[in-house]
Amino acid sequence: MPNPDPTERQCAESLLAFWADGGVDAMLLDEPVDRIAAGKVAPPPAPARKAAAAPVARPAAGQPDIAAAVAQAQALAAAADSLEALKDAIAGFDGCPIKFEGAARQSVFYRGREDAPVMIVGEGPGAEEDAQGLPFVGRAGQLLDRMLAAAGLTDRVLITNTVFWRPPGNRTPTPFEQAICAPFVERTAALLKPKILLLVGGASAKAMLKKDEGILSMRGRWFEWRSADGSLEIPALPTLHPAFLLRQPAAKKRAWADLLTLTERLDRPERPS
Ligand code: URA
Repeated sequence: MPNPDPTERQCAESLLAFWADGGVDAMLLDEPVDRIAAGKVAPPPAPARKAAAAPVARPAAGQPDIAAAVAQAQALAAAADSLEALKDAIAGFDGCPIKFEGAARQSVFYRGREDAPVMIVGEGPGAEEDAQGLPFVGRAGQLLDRMLAAAGLTDRVLITNTVFWRPPGNRTPTPFEQAICAPFVERTAALLKPKILLLVGGASAKAMLKKDEGILSMRGRWFEWRSADGSLEIPALPTLHPAFLLRQPAAKKRAWADLLTLTERLDRPERPS
């Protein structure tokens, strides 16, 4: 392509900066896409064992092949024998449509300790997480860090999300996008073997526990999370999302009570068997 006229280039840059200042940070399709209807066509299949990853075509606009994407995620996840390998597998995975919706610069996997007894699962990366390639590093993440520090949990957590790319406009990931990424979340739990899962926010709690209850009724109660193949069972505690706490500071006391519920169980002496 010939180099554009410098004036045209300046005009284009200034127009893009204008849109970015107004909060427009993604290019979207002209027509709306009903991802829920698209997903109903193909429910996720049973987990695959360590098979070689079949190539999956980049999803056509509006018609992601969810079954193929889940199968590929399962194969890639099963083949990863370390968190480092899983990080590479996620980065190379093209099956999650969010990756191609225009807001994601890179995949965002985890931060924290690789021997943590607590695995924290949030919703999905935002702008700051996308820029840094790490989960929960924006304002909500900073609040989460302060709460974890106050509860003595800073060095006892690994933090990740239900999806690994930033949804445009920070929309909530759809259940199908979460289902496509779920094999990677499950593999993270299988490699980490945490004692407890902390599910941060309604989108995480609903997806992980496959429940359609509101977060205000689920928070602070213990659930049992099971992996799709039934090989893992881990106590899971839903809690309020720190982004919600930034908007509703009066709710912080409930999130704090949840962290105390978590630390009480984490530090409870194990009964001799
Ligand atoms: N909110 C989330 O749910 N996850 C992040 O990583 C950041 C904000």
